[in-house]
Amino acid sequence: MADRDFIIAPSILSANFAKLGEEVANVIAAGADWVHFDVMDNHYVPNLTIGPLVCEAIRPCTTAPIDVHLMVKPVDRIIPDFAKAGANIITFHPEASDHIDRTLGLIRDQGCQAGLVFNPATPLELMDYVLDKLDLVLLMSVNPGFGGQKFIPATLAKARQTRAKLDAYEQQSGRHIRLEIDGGVNVGNIAEIAGAGVDSFVAGSAVFGARKESDPHRYDSVLAALRNELSKA
Ligand code: DX5
Ligand code: ZN
Repeated sequence: MADRDFIIAPSILSANFAKLGEEVANVIAAGADWVHFDVMDNHYVPNLTIGPLVCEAIRPCTTAPIDVHLMVKPVDRIIPDFAKAGANIITFHPEASDHIDRTLGLIRDQGCQAGLVFNPATPLELMDYVLDKLDLVLLMSVNPGFGGQKFIPATLAKARQTRAKLDAYEQQSGRHIRLEIDGGVNVGNIAEIAGAGVDSFVAGSAVFGARKESDPHRYDSVLAALRNELSKA
């Protein structure tokens, strides 16, 4: 796989919220591909973060795709709000929707790419009858709710199984579905995760934790290090 086929999506959950627009612009200028936008509702997950207003506020700060990860229940009502706020990709957890197929259709009807998110213990079979409506699959390598947690090693085997499913689907349909991972990704493990078939990588604390406040190029070296590791995969 060529280097640029790998997507790095810094999670702004670990950014400096007082300077969010600047953080977004700097991290994309440093070589990141997508902005990962974590939405938590203190109901589906035990934390509360940001919503469509903040998505709309950062939209003018970059032309990079905004990858909205919904950790909210219910999901359907809020989807059009994020589409209007400039989201490009919207993913949700199957446990948070009573009608998974309908929710995927709703995301696409709003002009966004759609994805399902699998918690560490959520079985992959939930994707089997909706592959035609998926643009990406997101595997959680931590339990959702917080940045800065440790990568759960069993996710590597799950990633290989997902890759096999998605490859089989691509052979039969000609359509490529991205495989993204979220949680505990860093310079030390990204190559091994890529080796398990993952092509898109969320990294929050590993990227934004590398900041030196005064330096406008504060994220260049960590992005280069992640990219360099991927070139070995
Ligand atoms: C966790 C979020 C993640 C989180 C990742 O529920 O979905 O996107 O910000 O943070 P790190 O990379 O620090 O594990
Ligand atoms: Zn996330």
